[in-house]
Amino acid sequence: MFEWLESTSVAIWVGESLWAYPSLLSLHIVGLAVVVGIFSMRDMRLLGLFPGIEPAAFLPLSKLAVIGFIINAISGMLLFTSQAVTFVNSTPFLSKISCVIAGMVLAGIIQSRLRGEVAISKAGTTVSGSTKLIALASLATWVGAIVAGRLIAYI
Ligand code: HEM
Repeated sequence: MFEWLESTSVAIWVGESLWAYPSLLSLHIVGLAVVVGIFSMRDMRLLGLFPGIEPAAFLPLSKLAVIGFIINAISGMLLFTSQAVTFVNSTPFLSKISCVIAGMVLAGIIQSRLRGEVAISKAGTTVSGSTKLIALASLATWVGAIVAGRLIAYI
């Protein structure tokens, strides 16, 4: 299946056109800046940094983070087609995708917990210890996604 994917006209265009790959990789970096930027700021706030920012401020921002993820899913899939056999056998690539999936699952969990904690808090949101623990795990997965992603080209 991955050999067939590499033989498709879109995969050949991504792999052989002068501008396709660098443009898609640039779009990929923009997408990760948005999704990882928002979720890592949220996680650091939930861990107690930047006390001047109300945690509830991150609830509407998750929509923008999802747009960043969609940009990365589309640009990433196109990048993937050009060397599908190589990437599917690449430990850094598989590790990165695992981190991205874990990061998005944790983002959903944090979003619903934060919505609940904002609702019950009278003045200023009190973030529970378990939500802080999940935020720490989330931060680690996104750092892992970036490091593993960067290593794809080297290992
Ligand atoms: C939010 C989600 C994602 C993040 C944070 C992310 C992060 C990264 C990073 C940091 C790189 C290295 C860029 C560089 O070397 O300059 C990368 C490369 C790559 N990503 Fe993603 N990625 C995400 C989603 C995806 C998805 C869903 C796919 C496709 C299945 C994908 C496929 C790729 C491929 C094929 C490369 C290798 C590019 C290369 O080094 O030639 N990514 N990604």
